[in-house]
Amino acid sequence: MCGIFGIVAEKEQTLGPILIEAAKRLTYRGYDSVGSATISGSKIDLRKDAGKVDEVAEKYHFSEMQGSRGITQLRWATFGIPSQVNAQPHLDSDGDLVGAHNGNVVNNVELRQQFMAEGMTVRSENDGESCVHAVERYINQGFDFVTAIRKAYNDLEGDYAFVIGKIDDNRLYAIKKGSGLVVGIGEGFNCVSSDLPSILPLTREVIRLEDGEVITLWADRVELHNVKDGSLIEREPEIVQESMSAVQKEGYEHFMLKEIHEQPTVARELLHRLAGSDNEISKMMDKIKNARSVYFIGCGTSYHACLAGAIYFSQLAGRSVMPVLAPQFKPQYGNSIDERDVGVFVSQSGETKDVLNALEVGQSKGMTCFSLANVIGSTLTRKTEGWVPLVCGYEISVPATKTFTNQVISFLYLAAKLGGRDMTDFENLPDLMAETIHQTDAQMQALVPMINPWDDLYCLGFGTTYPMALEGALKFKEITYAHCEGILSTEFKHGPLSAVTAGFPVIFLAGPEDIPLIISGINEVTCRGGNAIAIGRADGRLAANATHTVTIPKSNNAFSALLGVLPMQLLSYYIAIARGFDPDFPRNLSKTLTVD
Ligand code: G6P
Repeated sequence: MCGIFGIVAEKEQTLGPILIEAAKRLTYRGYDSVGSATISGSKIDLRKDAGKVDEVAEKYHFSEMQGSRGITQLRWATFGIPSQVNAQPHLDSDGDLVGAHNGNVVNNVELRQQFMAEGMTVRSENDGESCVHAVERYINQGFDFVTAIRKAYNDLEGDYAFVIGKIDDNRLYAIKKGSGLVVGIGEGFNCVSSDLPSILPLTREVIRLEDGEVITLWADRVELHNVKDGSLIEREPEIVQESMSAVQKEGYEHFMLKEIHEQPTVARELLHRLAGSDNEISKMMDKIKNARSVYFIGCGTSYHACLAGAIYFSQLAGRSVMPVLAPQFKPQYGNSIDERDVGVFVSQSGETKDVLNALEVGQSKGMTCFSLANVIGSTLTRKTEGWVPLVCGYEISVPATKTFTNQVISFLYLAAKLGGRDMTDFENLPDLMAETIHQTDAQMQALVPMINPWDDLYCLGFGTTYPMALEGALKFKEITYAHCEGILSTEFKHGPLSAVTAGFPVIFLAGPEDIPLIISGINEVTCRGGNAIAIGRADGRLAANATHTVTIPKSNNAFSALLGVLPMQLLSYYIAIARGFDPDFPRNLSKTLTVD
């Protein structure tokens, strides 16, 4: 959610443009406020407000900001409404320290009271300010900076990372506890950020921090300390190979459209990767095969992939799996799991707090935990015993597209492997996906005038298309701001049917094996004047019964379900555009939710 960036330069300079660019590259995480601070000698220049980077930076002339050290932060509100005072960075009482955080300090309310009682000046309700006062408290007691941070760490409960600096000093300091933090080693500067995109244009030499580590950055060196005992940690920087073009739009109007079109390519890469990872996969497969119970755990889109995975594991491998929404894992299964069970934790970001909480529950009971994640080096991948990388590259757009299809393909591949199925068909899947996108793009654009006037609609699926209907509906909700409910097609008659009036749109994802059942659902809608839109392979029965059919290429039942979600992604995108909304950064949503 929030994003932080800090830089220490060799000499005084105009740091504003660097800070603006770094902030822009963090926007994909979702945010509502932006701020920058520069430190020059004994002066701190702090400018911030609620709003978009471009607007706020222009209004407050960020580009003119001077200093040898700079911090920028994008905030996504949790403690305190989005406002200028709650925006980050924050100052300490006397304005000698400035800092910003990412994450969630859960004892913020209690801490603010303590700070005020101790005579400190607390200006906002934001928990980032608590990080600054927590350090100020120990600086005031005469401790050196690193020790003050180590002591503050004991006071700050929750998962966070923060960066902080002081006047009349030549360093910045940062700490990681639960939230991501990466250091960039440059020529004549060093920088730190919550994630890579804001660092890569500056340098490819990075040091990834672990939880419980404090970093001190000078312009020409860094020093890493263990927060617990203060001992020095030696860690060699690594060179990041990923291309920055992945974070550019490459000619598409939005990242979402680019990422939709990238799906066949990343699917191919994933399949190559899976085919070359037999050893790791068979270890995971053995555990899954011999487990007493298996759980697939995720949130939002990733949960839909879990649901699809559970269906594939049963259909292709005869292995029953329980798909669970991560926060429900503890109440539903916390008391019944043990070391005989296996959990596969699924997350694009690998940082979703709900998922990490569920992981903690599983691990505390001795469960074997694997993960399926996109972000390499994320908390989830580091905490699990083994993981399947989704190899999608950065997914910038908030609505997940390519990471979803690769999650589903991973499960499909693992299920087919476990079931000893013929794997040759997988070779055709990327081409089928490309063909589907190509074939349905214009068809979905043509549906916009019919669907756009409705703020309430349904997307139905059955069997393998059921999770895809849920995912299609979620995409629609996320970026069009309309209510679209995904349900099992057979449940429609048990209540939602009452919503159908003349022209009411109901979308059916029709798996090839379920067409007769889908046709009854279609007729329940059309005979009441509703518009039934069927997405499925060319079939005379669908064409004869539905108001509109959207044709996808012919394939087997499992592939067909996956292909069906692609036109739903496109439809959501085109409706969002028709409504004038930015599909990449939908209001109120965040790509990475690191809070409960
Ligand atoms: C947020 C995002 C969703 C995403 C969910 C899980 O709510 O807005 O798009 O599906 O988190 O994210 P994860 O990174 O764990 O897959």
